[in-house]
Amino acid sequence: MVSTDITATAEWAALTRHVGELQAGRVDLAALFEGDADRAGRCTSTVGDLIIDWSRHLVTDETVELLGALADRAGVAERIEAMVTGEPINVTDGRAVLHTALRARSGHSVMTGGVDVAPVIAAEHERMGAFVRALVSGERRTATGRGVRAVVNLGIGGSQLGPSMAFEALAAFRSGGIECRFVSNIDPAALAAALHGLDPAETLFVVVSKGFATAETLANARAARAWAASVLGDVAARRHFVAVTANRAAAIEFGIEPDDVFATWDWVGGRFSMASAAGLTLMTAIGEENFEAMLSGMRIVDEHVAAAPGASVPMLLGLLSVWYRNFWGFQTRAVVPYSQRLRLFGVWLQQVIMESNGKQVRLDGSPLSCESAEVVWGGVGTDSQHSFHQLLHQGTTVVPVDFVVMARPDPDVGGEGVIERHEALVANCFAQAAALAFGTQPADGDPHRALPGNRPSTVVLAPSLTPSVLGQLIALYEHQTVVQGAVWGINSFDQFGVERGKTLADAIVQDLRSGPSGSGASHDPSTESLLTHYHRLQQR
Ligand code: F6P
Repeated sequence: MVSTDITATAEWAALTRHVGELQAGRVDLAALFEGDADRAGRCTSTVGDLIIDWSRHLVTDETVELLGALADRAGVAERIEAMVTGEPINVTDGRAVLHTALRARSGHSVMTGGVDVAPVIAAEHERMGAFVRALVSGERRTATGRGVRAVVNLGIGGSQLGPSMAFEALAAFRSGGIECRFVSNIDPAALAAALHGLDPAETLFVVVSKGFATAETLANARAARAWAASVLGDVAARRHFVAVTANRAAAIEFGIEPDDVFATWDWVGGRFSMASAAGLTLMTAIGEENFEAMLSGMRIVDEHVAAAPGASVPMLLGLLSVWYRNFWGFQTRAVVPYSQRLRLFGVWLQQVIMESNGKQVRLDGSPLSCESAEVVWGGVGTDSQHSFHQLLHQGTTVVPVDFVVMARPDPDVGGEGVIERHEALVANCFAQAAALAFGTQPADGDPHRALPGNRPSTVVLAPSLTPSVLGQLIALYEHQTVVQGAVWGINSFDQFGVERGKTLADAIVQDLRSGPSGSGASHDPSTESLLTHYHRLQQR
């Protein structure tokens, strides 16, 4: 298979010409609005509950048409179709990519490799529900015969980022009274903090690892088991663990009862896996119904995309990110939710976009001749206004921003002036988007106080942060990521870039442990020097 070099196509050339014209004419957002009284209306799209205002982008109707032509030429819609129908589009791993099947309507069969995955997904969701019901009712007991009062999720990357983000986002929907915590980092401080105040006799650990070989997760699982065993004894401690994995044998080998191993599958990428049993701790926290409501939100966007991929909102947003990355040369995108509980949304999105599309070769292994994923960063508004927005408004680098904001405050939050404070939150969000787009020129012409404007942003406005709305947001961004990768012709579903560091760490840790005399392994000079300093510090 030979990949098309999208940059060598007439569609790419047309966009290169077009951006040149816009830049030569100093495309100006204020002028675009002046020239089109209905721009705000025409450039606002709706998907499910999400109202997406993309009117403040540096685009004309012609831009949107040309980007659509680029997507056609790259076969983006066909790639989405291949993905949702179970073709093995993750070619380097030889796997299908079926996260959309995890949240498909029940009874909607999806075949991959001649097998219908719908029944296994349904069965696993049913097992998750039964497990959570048993935990909450107290029917499921720990080895001590006591009920489970705390669940600690041990997993990293895709086995933690989505579920912990949703756990925070859906704080208003927690029920069942079981305390849930997440540990990812191998830094001993992380597990220590998570275990603080917990009683081993009432604590259950959920080890989430698709491959069941991830160093951080296994180290934390062993340490957690030692913590439980120090009070309960070895045999009992084992019964305080369940697993979520595609490597069932390794989980059983670790000591987890076969009936306590939940499945995830090769055809679900870790970073796209939160609708699988990887969301078991999340389901424990918010209950089966709310978990299902989150899945139904994802499904709204999936079905919107499947109905007309080329005309879908994620297609447009994905193409806008390509527009900025490849034709304007913008290197980053800031994600700024005006919602305290979406604090981790950008952290989750970093893995989704940057692990998926931070690639340098096309599907056939040939080098990319354009830039791939943007750097995703951000923070929560209004806090971010008091840290990095200065650069967004007056810095020398242009950063397209995604704002996300809810019309209503979180339903469980009360207190004096809650509505007024929420109104102030929303007003700040809208104000930032306006200031970025239209800037300001002080009457006295003081250059220090001038904001150039013309800085693009999207505003995603939703009614309130419900499980369904969160699911819609998640799927909105997942699909954009797939669109980007399809335009660039890369494999968005592998992550070989992270392997080298793991191998080096394995070798280096031998030298840390073997003391100043070393293990005999050779390292680069800087690493050798750091090892020497490390050993000296150990001796102090
Ligand atoms: O960081 C690499 C990675 O493989 C991610 O893609 C994945 O989400 C994470 O590690 C955890 O992997 P696992 O679920 O197999 O422990």
